[in-house]
Amino acid sequence: QFDQSSASSRGGYSTPKSVVGIGGKVAKPDYSEAKIVIAMVGLPARGKSYLSNKLMRYLKWLEYDVKVFNVGQLRRSRARQKAQESGIREDHTASYFSHENVEATKLRDKLAADSLEMLIQWLKDGGNVGILDATNSTQNRRASVEARVTRERGIVVVFIESVCDDPAVIAANVALKVSSGDPDYATTSPELAKLDFLRRIKQYEAIYQTISESHLSYLKIINVGSQVILNRINGYLQSRIAFYLMNLHLKPRSIFFSRHGESQYNVEGKIGGDSALSSRGMKYARALPDLITDNIGNAPLTVWTSTLQRTIQTGQFLPYNKLTWKALDELDAGVCDGMTYEEIEKAYPEDFANRDNDKFNYRYRGGESYRDVVVRLEPVIMELERQDNILIFGHQAILRCLYAYFHNLSQADLPYIKIPLHTVIKLTPKAYGCDEERYALPIGAVDTHRPKPGTLSKDNLIQPSGSSAREYFAGKN
Ligand code: F6P
Ligand code: PEP
Repeated sequence: QFDQSSASSRGGYSTPKSVVGIGGKVAKPDYSEAKIVIAMVGLPARGKSYLSNKLMRYLKWLEYDVKVFNVGQLRRSRARQKAQESGIREDHTASYFSHENVEATKLRDKLAADSLEMLIQWLKDGGNVGILDATNSTQNRRASVEARVTRERGIVVVFIESVCDDPAVIAANVALKVSSGDPDYATTSPELAKLDFLRRIKQYEAIYQTISESHLSYLKIINVGSQVILNRINGYLQSRIAFYLMNLHLKPRSIFFSRHGESQYNVEGKIGGDSALSSRGMKYARALPDLITDNIGNAPLTVWTSTLQRTIQTGQFLPYNKLTWKALDELDAGVCDGMTYEEIEKAYPEDFANRDNDKFNYRYRGGESYRDVVVRLEPVIMELERQDNILIFGHQAILRCLYAYFHNLSQADLPYIKIPLHTVIKLTPKAYGCDEERYALPIGAVDTHRPKPGTLSKDNLIQPSGSSAREYFAGKN
């Protein structure tokens, strides 16, 4: 199912193939055969939407076409339409979700079936992974999902159940639902909203059946991270999804990113290489222990560097466990390694223009493209999901790829993200997305960001969207 045409496969992960002498565009992997319905299962407030969104973010980063179909959203938009047309406002308080409410149960079954229909159509139109974000909490409901998907050749369904009995996690999810301006409770006070939502959960508990249908493909995730049960998980993409979800956890932690201190090559405007830090770069390395220990306190932290001396030197004064990753080495510029952008433009004018034209896809002669780098960073992402606090000393292109994963940025924007030197970026995963703080140390450094020609430089300042954008400029000095 997986044809990573731009890469050769070694040891289960695809690694970039060097094609010496050829520079140019790398085709998007052909995922056209991959068609999966992921049907979520679980009581309300068990993190189904959280898991749906995480999975979507991960698979989109790997360039699968993914879409979440949320039944609650369809329910609300239909109810709005009905209210506009007939003036009748549907009651969506807890009693609507009771199995004894025959009328509403019919409506809800229809909403679920219609969502699935839209999802299947979207898969037929070219999508890869459609996520049905609903409760699917009875065997009957799941049987009808299975029966419908089975009618389609080439489409399979995998159920993902989130079982959670950790009162703290449930309470946090309930609090999130009633405090985050959830449209179900837009005009209700938080106190009443909470009471109603707890009543709604009770209605579901009355009929909820955990998955035990052994003929189904499913993943049962118990208290995110503590136990995972796999049943009939087959094929490349399904295993990949299962492996990813197995690695997630909800423990609070932060991920710190920093480029290495300014290097000799940075000062000379050269790309790539394995030069040492400049004197200002060394100053940054010496200033880091105070900044990091102030921030992290006594909490555990592990430092990851690339194998290049400029990242290792940057971390050398930090009193934490360190690990070097070959996968964190800077994008390989092939024959252009060690040149300045001006020299590249002169020696390879066509390549230079091609890169500006489509920077994500352009592969340096004998080197890599951003797409190649994303593929080789996948194990790093997987490990980052498993770990607690991590500080990564990386490189401009590498950190752009990792940053884009955490902020859900597009492949087109990714190669222009601003990751300045001498700045620590702190990401703290939240329910949906990440909060961000930036700490820019007052130690001068060159600016290595090369904006896309023909755009105003402010357009090159890629910002994450949503709530995290507020924190974007909140970096302390
Ligand atoms: O200039 C520093 C650097 O890390 C180079 O080693 C690397 O080739 C470059 O940045 C990547 O940035 P861009 O993709 O914008 O050229
Ligand atoms: C909903 O309407 O919010 C919902 C999750 O629906 P269902 O329980 O029918 O899947």
